[in-house]
Amino acid sequence: MTGLRKSIHGEWSSRWAFILAATGSAVGLGNIWRFPYITGQYGGGAFVLLYIMCVLLIAMPIMICEIMLGRRGRQSPINTMFSLAEEEGLNKAWRYLGWLGVVAGFMILSFYSVIAGWTLDYIYRASSGSFSGVSDTEILSIFNGLLGNPELLIVLHTVFMSFTVIIVSMGVQSGLERAVKFLMPALFILLLIMVGYAMSTPAFNQGLSYLFKPDFSRLTGEGVLAAMGQAFFSLSLGMGAIMVYGSYLSSRASIVRTSISIVIMDTSVALLAGMAIFPLVFAYGLEPGSGPGLIFVTLPIAFGQMPYGQFFGTAFFVLLMFAAWTSSISLLEPAVAWLVENRDMKRVNAAALAGLLAWILGIGSVFSFNIWQDAKLFDKTYFDIMDYLTSNVMLPLGGLLIAIFSVWLMPRRSSIDELKIGDGLAYKSWRLLARYLAPVGVLIIFLNAIGIL
Ligand code: TRP
Repeated sequence: MTGLRKSIHGEWSSRWAFILAATGSAVGLGNIWRFPYITGQYGGGAFVLLYIMCVLLIAMPIMICEIMLGRRGRQSPINTMFSLAEEEGLNKAWRYLGWLGVVAGFMILSFYSVIAGWTLDYIYRASSGSFSGVSDTEILSIFNGLLGNPELLIVLHTVFMSFTVIIVSMGVQSGLERAVKFLMPALFILLLIMVGYAMSTPAFNQGLSYLFKPDFSRLTGEGVLAAMGQAFFSLSLGMGAIMVYGSYLSSRASIVRTSISIVIMDTSVALLAGMAIFPLVFAYGLEPGSGPGLIFVTLPIAFGQMPYGQFFGTAFFVLLMFAAWTSSISLLEPAVAWLVENRDMKRVNAAALAGLLAWILGIGSVFSFNIWQDAKLFDKTYFDIMDYLTSNVMLPLGGLLIAIFSVWLMPRRSSIDELKIGDGLAYKSWRLLARYLAPVGVLIIFLNAIGIL
């Protein structure tokens, strides 16, 4: 029966289209905005090394599980989990795993859209030349001026959320495929140019060794948790985004090869972003751990000084906005697919409703950068809490449950049937990682962070 199931929402036109869409989902603010600032907050090299280990040993096997479940269920994550549980004679409460994902998706999208709004403002500033020749103090005051203006932030948040809703209403193929095909390679090239510029600064080596030379004395239990959280966040794992994309994947495509390509592209973009940013941080004596504003105060200095900086700066923030866009749609898609399936809503209405909900949640993040900046719980603002809860708790928990379902509960023959890589070394290695290393890894990191281990 499973092989015959078809998605009511359509299918990717090819395996390549899926790779593009899934890479579009993975590559976004997580790589260029979040990776450098989190790396800075947790001390550099040791964090990066752990991040890479989490990507390879925990996230990649879970990505294979998530795509596999999606393609087998061919529905929104909630209904996919429900049907697969039913089919294998398991408890139907597994559908709540789909719900966990939908909630996490709203929470992430709510702040994601606020940050993406910053890039909209920066497109305007870069193109109007306001970065040319700025000093670090000038750019700091530009950035702080933006954060201190809640009305503007709300307008930008609204514009970005509307973009997201529009693309999601157009459906998976027409909207997505085209955007990713040209924009991703362009972003990649621009990042290479930025790394080239970073090489010309006196602190390039210092930046590189900060990024790649592990100093384990700077790593805390919390840092290990953050590395795992970043791996899930950056690869869009643990909340059903990749599952719902997998549900539109043709049954002939190879899930394993596809996952490997996505991981390679996503990780290269993050590392390139780090290589472009840290040399600037040190060259201008900025603080690597300064937080979410890191790229917004370092990159403009570079654009203000390099040749054709106005052009490159504009192009960079435009591409970053598009990268954020192809990610944000995947945060909304699981909820929208469910509304279409179960509430019989039109795609447009479903997208608008879900977008509105995330928009409302996002207002809190807007305020946490200005009028609520001192309202803290456990020393964290509203934005910090949303970000921390989703990346460090909900996504790894979702991923853990996805792995348990895929390799402990679903019978071996079902995964052999779905992955279509036979029963050889590749299959066995995946199963070993997904069965033992990934779930145990997630658990140990959780326990370690709350101080039990
Ligand atoms: N991975 C995206 C980024 O790096 C963000 C994202 C899109 C995401 N879909 C997701 C994060 C699902 C977690 C879960 O910017």
